[in-house]
Parts: sequence; structure tokens; C-alpha cells
Amino acid sequence: MNGWILAYDDFRPEAEGVREVLCTLGNGFFATRGAAEETKADNAHYPGTYLAGCYNRLRSEVADRWVENEDLVNAPNWLPLTFRLTGGRWFYPTADNLLEYRRELDLREGVLTRYLRTRDSAGRITRVESRRLVHMGAPHLAAIQTRITAENWSGRLQIRSALDGRVRNAGVERYRALRGDHLRPLQTAAAAPVSELTLEMETSQSHIRIAQAARTYLFRDHQQETVPRQRVRRPDYAADIFEVELAAGESVTAEKIVAIYTSRDRAIAAPLVEARAAVAAATDFEGLRAEHALAWSLLWRRFDLELQGGPMGESALLLRLHLFHLLQVASPNVQHVDAGVPARGLHGEAYRGHVFWDELFILPTLTFRMPQISRALLMYRWYRLDAARAAARAIGCRGAMYPWQSGSNGREETQRLHLNPRSGRWLPDNSYRQRHVGLAVAYNVWQYYEITGDHEFMAAYGAEMLLEIARFWADFAVWEPASGRYEIRGVMGPDEYHDGYPDAVEPAGIDNNAYTNVMAAWVLRRALAVLDVLSEERRQAICAWLKLTPAELAGWDERSRLLRVDFHAGRIISQFQGYERLAEFDWQRYRQRYGDIQRLDRLLEAEGDDPNRFRLSKQADVLMLFYLFSAEQLVEMFRHLGYRFEASWIPANVNYYGQRTSHGSSLSRVVHAWVLSRTQRTQSWALFQQALRTDYGDAPHGTTREGIHLGAVAGTIDLMFRCYTGLEIRGDVLSFKPRLPAELGKLAMRLHFRGRSLDLVLEEEQLTVTVAGEESLRIQVRGREYEVMPGAPRSFPVPKRKNASGTRQSG
Ligand code: BGC
Repeated sequence: MNGWILAYDDFRPEAEGVREVLCTLGNGFFATRGAAEETKADNAHYPGTYLAGCYNRLRSEVADRWVENEDLVNAPNWLPLTFRLTGGRWFYPTADNLLEYRRELDLREGVLTRYLRTRDSAGRITRVESRRLVHMGAPHLAAIQTRITAENWSGRLQIRSALDGRVRNAGVERYRALRGDHLRPLQTAAAAPVSELTLEMETSQSHIRIAQAARTYLFRDHQQETVPRQRVRRPDYAADIFEVELAAGESVTAEKIVAIYTSRDRAIAAPLVEARAAVAAATDFEGLRAEHALAWSLLWRRFDLELQGGPMGESALLLRLHLFHLLQVASPNVQHVDAGVPARGLHGEAYRGHVFWDELFILPTLTFRMPQISRALLMYRWYRLDAARAAARAIGCRGAMYPWQSGSNGREETQRLHLNPRSGRWLPDNSYRQRHVGLAVAYNVWQYYEITGDHEFMAAYGAEMLLEIARFWADFAVWEPASGRYEIRGVMGPDEYHDGYPDAVEPAGIDNNAYTNVMAAWVLRRALAVLDVLSEERRQAICAWLKLTPAELAGWDERSRLLRVDFHAGRIISQFQGYERLAEFDWQRYRQRYGDIQRLDRLLEAEGDDPNRFRLSKQADVLMLFYLFSAEQLVEMFRHLGYRFEASWIPANVNYYGQRTSHGSSLSRVVHAWVLSRTQRTQSWALFQQALRTDYGDAPHGTTREGIHLGAVAGTIDLMFRCYTGLEIRGDVLSFKPRLPAELGKLAMRLHFRGRSLDLVLEEEQLTVTVAGEESLRIQVRGREYEVMPGAPRSFPVPKRKNASGTRQSG
């Protein structure tokens, strides 16, 4: 293992699922799991391909009810490339026929390499070396190069290259009772008498046409070889079978170049026309690889983090692996598709490829480096503003209510029933009550604006989203004379273990979730502030368009001061109203009994109990506030709400909820690592390390095989990037309060702020900032303002840290 290569040296069928996810190749337009080219979906392998934004809906009957689900569609498999020896079977890797099996994912160049040796039942040994890429610079293209060598035999070899549309969505065991047959074949491709392979399929309900074309050439000693080919052409499957003679020690190389287009693409005549043209125009594997590597090198120039320090070897690799997967989903190519960022990437079928609030954890890393990617992802939300308005209207409110799970058109896609695999029961799913997703959208809009200063975006799109989200919260909040406050009832906070009160007949949400209410107050204030950053003309126009009156705006201001937040035990922010009346949970007993208690909801339900009865959290909820806002900001926000809250109370809150959280969501450890980073450095580092291994270290039966945890992936990078540098924007100025963990010797990175590029090097005793360009830049370091001249590195002392558990104050 070096800093750029993820390597696996063996074949373990049970580990394939996780490895396929970690070896996924993608480019933001589509991604394909790192499954072996010779395999199809079986107990060990799952060669899924997912196109950004390509969804389809199906109705299924479960638990005596009809449910409709929208899935990110598993597209036809473009990988198949296998071989057989005379009289033998098509090669399919198994533990029995492999003598060696090595895989390497080169993160720098985005190439997956395999090296294997296989022996058949007749003792014939064949060596296979293959390379695969999904082109970052030409997002419709992918390529495989496979060299096959006869080690100890001579004879005839057949090579089969195929496009396979006989796939379905079956990657997640718990969803198997639901239908997954999203594709049906079109006759167009099979009818064409073409020498390349072509396939065109259509999704059954959304009628998206997916076309693939492939060209396969054989080479011997770098010379192209024309050999007889047998053609198989069916509407849902197309294959070419080539035959060659090999003598012992000889090799033949197959190159398969593939193009994928869909009817959702821009600037196309028809998907199949484009796919055929693209594949015909593409250069050979080596040419494509060189361009692809160039595209990656340009990305790495912006995104790479340099880390040094004691045991950082593996961590440095994992952070790169995280950056790599983040960029394979949220790549610059997302600018050309209308798609959000699925919580589990384009790596698998968990959560059906839906888009949640996870972009809250994903956008900062992108915005500080390549803001155009964030802008494209925010546009996914803007295009679905009308759907959010309709959702608000449906519950009697004005404004925009974004759905907890979003897919094609912004309708609420949260399932109404979910299966507890532990108990085998289908249960009502109330997580659609997580209305807080809109707050994350608003936060992201504002943060994007702060980092980029992109007035044009704010004026044309951002302001409208912010204002409509604020309007929803103003309308959704109700005045309660008894408390003299506005209250927000019947919601779920980020902690999904509480969907109601223990005594309720049916769970109907909880009231006054602190995270939701504080964020709602923040959004109402931001919305008022945003009107001030617009030009007078745009302000008038948007107010006229949205029919915003001074009286309505005054109502927002009032609510921003009077939303209710509960406290208990003096200084503990109550996760929601009545939280302190819940029973304490016996953590020790459950840990002893079950070992892994991350999914306490499932354990308790299977026991006939209910998490709603207890003070326990799946993930950070109150603590999200300390993650998103600085202590100073929060103190001011509570003051504005008319509550006393002191910065010195934060550690008590962090401690309180830290002891009551099971980290059942991968997002949770990122937040806890962040909020502990100043005060409990050892614990924070341990949580960071766990977050870093969420996917890499996942057990074969865990959920990584169903897709990467993209929020946690991005969150770990952001910990390095913003948390340890103490990076914030204060007014118009970038501010740093570095606090390098004891385990890190040096951290270097590049960031972009309002069109300026800065290089940062954070070492134990100093922070060095170099500003590119012609003009100087004002920055703040530990509260003092400085002017950094362009091109001249400027260093600032960082107070010496204490030991790992020390509580150095960096501010
Ligand atoms: C978490 C949510 C998250 C979702 C998708 C759930 O397990 O509780 O906060 O948005 O996964 O990642």
C-alpha cells in the first residue's frame, strides 16, 4: 500500500461486495462497481452500473399493501469480457479456480488493474492482466484492456465481449421483496446490422432510453488482429465471440471501448446515435487512459491533501480514497446532468439512490475547491422548488418543504414501510417527518454564497430557495399562548430513533426539536438578510413575484426571536420537548448482550420494545448545532431567541449526548469527532479514525456493499480541511484557528475563496499561507487580522499543543 494505491491480494467471495464498492469507477455521469468483468450478479458479485439521475418507479405488493418505490436504476452491464479454452467453460472467478488474484486501484489515475492466474480442471494455467477506466474527461466513455496469456497450454481460445441488459435492481437484500425489473429492451439496437455491439433499453415508467455501444479489438504483439467472430444479437443482450489460436507462452490482448448515452443527455440527436458515434470516434485504450489520467491530475491539483505524521500512512491513503470516491460522484461532470448527490453515491442501491440532507456534509469540501460542482448540486434543488412548494401546500403551508428523500422530480420518495431484517416485520416509516432537510438546503445555499460571493447565483436562484424555505417554517410554526413561543410540532430531528412520544397510539413525530427550531430561526434571519444583499431592483422583483409583504417579513422576524427551545438540567439543550422525561437506557446491558448496538432501533423493535421510550440517539442531533455554528455564533443565536446560553456549556452538552448516542448513522462520528476536537482530542481522533474506516473497514455483512457512505466520506475530508485549520468565514474575511491533532505532523492543502486561490501548510508550530494572484488578501488568524501579499508565503505561529488529551485553547 502506498499513498495512492488501494490493493487487495486475495479473492474472498464474502468480501467482494465491499471491495466492489471501494473499487468502483465513476465520473459523475455514471459509475460502475469494481466487479470482475467475468461475473454476473450472484451471492458474491454484483456488477452494478448507475447513471446520475436515472430513476424509475415500480409498484410492489408487500405486507398486504401496494407501495410505489423509485429506484436509481441498475443500467445494462457493459463490463462482460471473458474467455474459454477449447472444451472448457467460460471463465468465472471462484475460490477454487484462482491461483492468484490481485487488484489495484490507482487513485491518482483512476485505473483499476487486475492480475490473476487461473487453472482449469485439465490443469491448464492462464494468466489475465486487465485495466479498466471510466473516463473522467469524456464522461460517456469507459474502457477495458485485458491481456490473456497461455502459460502452459496451446490451443484455441474464445473471447466473449458483451453488453448485458438482463439486469435488475437486486443489490440490497432487504429490498428483495420489492420489484426490481426496471428495464425493458428496445428493438432498435438488435435490428442494426453493425459490427460493434449495441444495446438500447428503456426504463419502464420514466421511459429513459439507455443506449450502449461497444467496440472490441484484439491485438497480438501490439498489432491489431482480425479474427472470425460469432455474433449474438438479442434485444436485451449482444455479444461478439472471437476465436484465436495461442501457443504456450503467447498472449492476446482484447480492448473494449464502450460509450453510454441516455435520452436525458443534452445536445444529442438520439442516445444510440451518439453512443455509436462516440465509440467509433474514440481512440484506443492507451489514448483514452492518457486523457483520463490528465483529467484526474487536474482534479487532484485542486483537491489533494498532503498529510504527514506518525502513523498516517493508511489514513492518508483512506483520505485520498474518500476524495477519489467523492469526486467520482460529485465530479465536474455533474454540471451536465440534472442530478443530486445520492447518499450512497453511484456505488450501490442502498436508499434506492435517493438524495437526503447528506449534502450538508458534502458541499463544503467541494465549494472551497471547485464551487461549480456545488452550484450544479444546488441547482438540482432549485429545479425541484415547485415540487417542494406543492409538498408544503399539501400540508396547508406556504413556502417550500423539501422532501426527506428526493429522486427524479423532487416528490417525497421516503418509503412508507420498511423492513426490519432482524424481526422480519414491515413497519411504518415516519422518517418523512424529517422536514429539516430544507434547512440543510438553505444552509448550503448561504454557505455557497459566503464562500464564492456568487451574487448572480444568489439573485437568480439562491434567494428564491432561501425565502421559500423560510416562508415554510414561518407558516409551519404555531403560536402557543401557554409558552409564549412559536412551536414546531410533529417533526423528526436528525436522530431517527425518535419518531413520536412513547405514549402515542401512532407515532406522530416529536415537538420542538432543538436542531430544527434553532435552524429555522437561523433561516428566517438569513432570509431577511438575503433581501439586503440583493440589488434594489432584484429585491423588488422577487418580493413582487413571491408576494412578500412587509407584514409577512415582520412575522418572520418575530418568529426568529420566539421559536421555542427547551433546556433541562440547567444547561443541557433538550433534543426535543419532553426529552428529559424519557427513561435512561441501559447501554451496558445492551452492549454486553449484542456487542454491536449501532442499530438499536432494530434491536429494540425485534424485542418488542421501542426506542421512543429512551434517551438514546442514533446520531448527532443537538450536536449538529455545534458542528454547523461556532460557539460565538450560537451564543448570539440563542440570545436572539431570548435564551441564555454560554459557550462554556458546550462541553457539558457534547458529553451528555456523546454518552447517549449509538452512532447508527455514519454521519454521527464525523460530527462527534468535530465537536470534540478542541476539548477531548484523544476521543475526537479515535472517532475520526473510525469514521475514516466506515467503508474500508466494513464487515462483509455490513451496508458498505450496498454503496459508499458519501456523507461520512466527505465529512472526514472536511475534518482535515475546515475543522483542524479552524476555517471560518467572518464577514468577508477568511479566518483560521488552527488546531492540528497531535497525531499529524503536517497538513497541506489548497483552497479557493471568492475567486482567489490559497495554499495552506499547517505544521505543529506554524500556519503558512500563500496567496496566488496579483492582489493581497486580508485574513484572520486566531482573531487578529493580517494582510497577505500575493506570492509571498506568510507564516503565523500556532501555540504549542499539549499532549493528545490536552485542552489547548487555540483561539
Ligand atoms: C441517517 C440519515 C442519512 C441517511 C442517508 C440514515 O441512516 O440517519 O441522517 O441522511 O442515512 O445517508
